[in-house]
Amino acid sequence: MTDIPPRPAPRIEVHVDAADLATSAAGELITRLEDAQARGEEPHIGLTGGSIAKAMHQELGRMGPTSEVDWSRVVVWWGDERFVAADSEDRNAREARETFLDRLPFDPAKVHEMPSTGDAGSVDDAAEAYSTELREHGAGAFEVLMLGMGPDGHVASLFPGSPQLDVDDRVAVGVTDSPKPPPERVSLTFDALNRSRCVWFLVNGEGKAGAVAQALAPGTDVHDIPAAGVSGEAETIWFLDRGSASQL
Ligand code: 6PG
Repeated sequence: MTDIPPRPAPRIEVHVDAADLATSAAGELITRLEDAQARGEEPHIGLTGGSIAKAMHQELGRMGPTSEVDWSRVVVWWGDERFVAADSEDRNAREARETFLDRLPFDPAKVHEMPSTGDAGSVDDAAEAYSTELREHGAGAFEVLMLGMGPDGHVASLFPGSPQLDVDDRVAVGVTDSPKPPPERVSLTFDALNRSRCVWFLVNGEGKAGAVAQALAPGTDVHDIPAAGVSGEAETIWFLDRGSASQL
């Protein structure tokens, strides 16, 4: 992983429960998108998978229609994706489509899904294709990148002890043995994840409290807790519930 210059210290927001966390993060994202568009920008965002991301996406689907955001001028990417068929229930993009992308007037040309098994022959081909797509559109300087974290400290599909953690010459990598099913995935690398202006971790549940505490402790090795290796250029926020914050 390439060394990155010092960044603002992470901010921690503790919410009463996962539902409150999801509502708050969705509301904050809407505000950021409205602000960016008011500045004349076309914001890019990075999505993730998992249960808390889904809860937040549902809130975006609910709150989005009455917001001031021009959804047709929001560019959507993923930080990671499961390498499965496009219509698989495991697919992060399918979840996002069903919860909010298809409910709001997004421009399909600006929704950049990672390749599915129908689009690419292997995870490495998929990673290469997505890297090219990102490079063609500014190499992933997202206004906001949302990330979940596993109880093992994984982030996107970068898992503890995996060789992908040391890839520093690529934008995206293939994963074939993810400990969290399904095993085949595509993930942005640390270098790409660290290009965002704002990084938001969405983490709930007591089972993740140890990993949260380690990720936020100074000097944690990213090979042990990959989430410790990602931050935003201008801002990093940890949206937690009481359970996940219980060891801070
Ligand atoms: C995925 C992910 C993954 C996820 C975390 C947290 O595709 O599985 O992108 O990194 O965000 O595992 O997921 P939960 O919120 O379900 O624990």
